[in-house]
Amino acid sequence: MLSNYLAALILVTQALARPSAKDWQEFADSLDGRLHTALPVAAPCFPIVNGHNSTVDPEACAAVQAGYGSAEFRSARYPAYMWTQWETCQRTNEKCLLDTTNTSNPLASAVPCEQGYVSKYYVAVSGPEDIQKAFAFAAKTGIHLSIKASGHDYKGRSGSKGSLNLWTRNLTKLSHTPVFVPEGGNQSFLHAITLGAGVPTEDLYKFADDNNLTVVGGYAQTIAASGGWVMGGGHSILSPVLGLGVDRVLQFKIVTPDGKYRVANSFTNPDLFWALRGGGGSTFGVVLESTFLAEPRMKLQVAAMSFNRTATNYQPWLKLVVDESYKWGTEGWGGHIRTNAPGLINVNPLLTLEEATESVMNAADFVRAQNGSVVVEELPSWQAFFAKYVLTAEARPGVAATLTSRIIPAALFTTESGKAALTSTMIQMIDQYGVNPYIQVGTPFLFKGSANTTSVTPAWRDGLWLMAGQTSWQFNATIPEIRTQFQIAHNVTQLVQDISPASGAYFNEGDLYQTNHEENFWGPNYSALLAIKKKYDPYSLLDCWQCVGWKGAQNARYDCYLSLE
Ligand SMILES: Cc1cc2nc3c(=O)[nH]c(=O)nc-3n(C[C@H](O)[C@H](O)[C@H](O)COP(=O)(O)OP(=O)(O)OC[C@H]3O[C@@H](n4cnc5c(N)ncnc54)[C@H](O)[C@@H]3O)c2cc1C
Ligand SMILES: *[C@@H]1O[C@H](CO)[C@@H](O)[C@H](O)[C@H]1NC(C)=O
Ligand SMILES: *[C@@H]1O[C@H](CO)[C@@H](O)[C@H](O)[C@H]1NC(C)=O
Ligand SMILES: *[C@@H]1O[C@H](CO)[C@@H](O)[C@H](O)[C@H]1NC(C)=O
Ligand SMILES: *[C@@H]1O[C@H](CO)[C@@H](O)[C@H](O)[C@H]1NC(C)=O
Ligand SMILES: *[C@@H]1O[C@H](CO)[C@@H](O)[C@H](O)[C@H]1NC(C)=O
Ligand SMILES: *[C@@H]1O[C@H](CO)[C@@H](O)[C@H](O)[C@H]1NC(C)=O
Ligand SMILES: *[C@@H]1O[C@H](CO)[C@@H](O)[C@H](O)[C@H]1NC(C)=O
Ligand SMILES: *[C@@H]1O[C@H](CO)[C@@H](O)[C@H](O)[C@H]1NC(C)=O
Ligand SMILES: *[C@@H]1O[C@H](CO)[C@@H](O)[C@H](O)[C@H]1NC(C)=O
Ligand SMILES: *[C@@H]1O[C@H](CO)[C@@H](O)[C@H](O)[C@H]1NC(C)=O
Ligand SMILES: *[C@@H]1O[C@H](CO)[C@@H](O)[C@H](O)[C@H]1NC(C)=O
Repeated sequence: MLSNYLAALILVTQALARPSAKDWQEFADSLDGRLHTALPVAAPCFPIVNGHNSTVDPEACAAVQAGYGSAEFRSARYPAYMWTQWETCQRTNEKCLLDTTNTSNPLASAVPCEQGYVSKYYVAVSGPEDIQKAFAFAAKTGIHLSIKASGHDYKGRSGSKGSLNLWTRNLTKLSHTPVFVPEGGNQSFLHAITLGAGVPTEDLYKFADDNNLTVVGGYAQTIAASGGWVMGGGHSILSPVLGLGVDRVLQFKIVTPDGKYRVANSFTNPDLFWALRGGGGSTFGVVLESTFLAEPRMKLQVAAMSFNRTATNYQPWLKLVVDESYKWGTEGWGGHIRTNAPGLINVNPLLTLEEATESVMNAADFVRAQNGSVVVEELPSWQAFFAKYVLTAEARPGVAATLTSRIIPAALFTTESGKAALTSTMIQMIDQYGVNPYIQVGTPFLFKGSANTTSVTPAWRDGLWLMAGQTSWQFNATIPEIRTQFQIAHNVTQLVQDISPASGAYFNEGDLYQTNHEENFWGPNYSALLAIKKKYDPYSLLDCWQCVGWKGAQNARYDCYLSLE
C-alpha cells in the first residue's frame, strides 16, 4: 500500500496524468458496471459534440429543454450542475449550454457542444469499496478526483475537467434511530436520522415528517445535507434557534484518502469529526452517510410579505429591516429578506401566533402602506412550511451565477453608527453595483450549543445575518463579460468586509475570489484543520478551490477558472 502512495506523490505532481486504456479497463472491470462516461447534459440538442458530427435527439433534447431550470432534473443527472458555468471551461469558454431564458433558442445549439468542465469519467458510487478502489486508482495513475453529490456548489468544487468523479447521488439510505449512541461512545441522543450522501433535502424533510420529527437543512429541494452543505457549515432559517448543520451532526461514515473506511464522531476519530464539522467538503475524504440530531415536529409561525419596489420605497425598507433585525433575532426569527422583489419569508419556532403578529407589526404596516401582501400564520410543521413557501422561493438553477456574501456581526445592529454603516453599504451595493442584498437570517444567534466543537469560523457565533448578493450572465457571454460579473461580486464583498473586518465568510456561499480565504472561512481554526488534512490525506489526493490545504490557483487542476484581472 505504501509504495502506491509514494508513486502517487510523484504522479500527482505531474499535471493531468492520464491513465492508460489498460488502467481504465482494469478499473472498470473492478466496478461491476459502475464506471461510466458522460457527455454534457445538453449534448442531445447539438449537431456537433466534442468535435464530431452528432445526431440531434429531439426527444432527449426536449427533456433537457423542459428540465433546464429544475433542481430535481439537474440533481438526478450526473453531468448537470445547478450553476451552468460549472459545466463550462470558463478560461476557454468551451461549453454546451442552452439559453436559460428560452431553452429552445436555436442560437445556443448553433455552436459546437464542448465537454467543458464536466469530467468524462465517473463512478456511480454504491458503497465504501468503490471509493477505496477510486483512491487506489488515483494513487496508481495520478488522475485527480472530484466528488459530486447534488451539484449545488457555487465554486466548481463538485467537478473538475479531466478528473475521475465520484457521484454519490445513489447513496439514498434514510433511517430513524429513536435512541442514538455514536459508535464507540457512551452518550445517547433521542431521535437521530441517518442519511446517505446522496439524499436530497426534500426526501430528508419528508422522511423526518413521516416520523413526526423536524430536521435542520437547507432552503432548497435537492441539496445533499450529508455532502458539502454540512461539511461547510450548513445554515437553515431554523439555525437561529436550533444551530447550524455542523452543530447538529452526530456522526459521519467516511472513506479517507488513505483508503480506510472510518467512523467519525466525538468518541471515535474526534479530530476528523471536528474537521468535518466545518472544514469543507472534498477535503478529508468521501462521506458515505451522516447522522443528525432531530427534534420533535414543531409548529412554526410564518411571516411572509412582498411588495413592488419603487425608486422611493427600497431605502426605507432597508432601514426598517436593519432597525428591526436585532429584536427579531432575540425573539428567535430566522428567514430570508429580499430587496429586489422586496419582502421577506420569516419563521419562528418560539412565539405564539399573537406574539409573532405583534413582533412583525412595523414591517407589516410598511408593506401594507405599499399595497403589498402580508401573511402571518401558524403552520403545523417544517414540512408544511417547506411545501407552501420554499418550493416557490428557492433559488432557481440552470443559470450562470455567482455569489458575494459575508457574515454580518450582531454588534453592528446595536449602535446607530453600525446600523447606518450597514444601511448605506446596502444602498451602495444596489446603486453602484446593481447587486441586490439577499439577507439570510440563519446564523446560530440564540443557539449556544457546540461552539468550539466545530471548525467553522467563530464569526458564525457572533453573526446575525449572512448577507449575500448574486451576479449572473447569459449563456453566450464573452470571457470579459463573465470576468466583469466575478469582479462585481468580488468588489461588493470587499465593500461589506470594510464594515465588518473582524467577521468571516461562509465557505459554501462566499466570493469565488475571497481574499485571505483561510482567515475568512475558518479564522483561528485554519492551522488545526491543515494539520488534520495532512494527517488523513498526506498526498493530497483530494483538492478543491480555496479548500483547506489546496494546491493553489496556479495548479493545473484550476486551468478552467478565470483569473480576476
Ligand atoms: C439553490 C441553492 C440553495 C442553497 N441554500 C442553502 C441554504 O439554505 N443553506 C446553506 O447552508 N447553503 C445553501 N446553499 C449552498 C450549499 O450549502 C452548497 O452549495 C453546498 O456545497 C451544497 O452541497 P452538495 O453536496 O449538495 O453540493 P455538491 O455541489 O454536490 O458538493 C459540494 C461540495 O461538497 C463536496 N461533496 C459532496 N458530497 C460529498 C461527499 N459525500 N463527501 C465529501 N465531499 C462531498 C463536493 O466535492 C463539493 O466540494 C444553497 C445552494 C443552492 C444552489
Ligand atoms: C460533418 O457533417 C458535414 C455535413 O453535414 C460534413 O461536411 C463534415 O465533413 C462532417 N464532419 C465530420 C468530422 O464527419
Ligand atoms: C424561443 O425561441 C424560439 C425559436 O427562436 C421561438 O420560436 C420562441 O417564440 C421563443 N420563445 C420565447 C418565449 O421567446
Ligand atoms: C442506483 O442503484 C440502483 C440499485 O440500488 C441501480 O439500479 C441504479 O442503476 C443506480 N443508479 C445509478 C445512476 O447508478
Ligand atoms: C463516558 O465515558 C467517560 C470516559 O470514560 C466518562 O468520564 C463519562 O462519565 C461517561 N459518560 C456517561 C454519560 O456515561
Ligand atoms: C406520529 O404522531 C401521530 C399522532 O400523534 C401518531 O398517530 C403516529 O403514530 C406517529 N407516527 C410515528 C411514525 O411515530
Ligand atoms: C395603494 O392603493 C391605493 C388605493 O388604490 C392608492 O390610492 C395608493 O396610491 C396606493 N399606494 C401605493 C404606495 O401604491
Ligand atoms: C405590482 O406589480 C404587478 C406587476 O406589475 C402588478 O400586477 C401589481 O398590481 C402591483 N402591486 C401593487 C401593490 O402595486
Ligand atoms: C471548549 O472550550 C472550553 C472552554 O474554553 C474548554 O473547556 C473545552 O475543552 C473546549 N472543548 C473542545 C472540544 O475544544
Ligand atoms: C446572446 O444572445 C442574444 C440572443 O439570444 C443576443 O441578443 C446577444 O447579443 C448575444 N450576446 C452575445 C455576447 O453574443
Ligand atoms: C472593482 O474594483 C477595482 C479596484 O477598485 C476596480 O478597478 C474595478 O473597476 C472594479 N470592477 C468593477 C466591475 O466594478
Ligand atoms: C477553533 O476556534 C475556536 C474559537 O476561536 C476556539 O475556541 C477553538 O479552540 C479552535 N479550535 C481549534 C482546534 O483550534
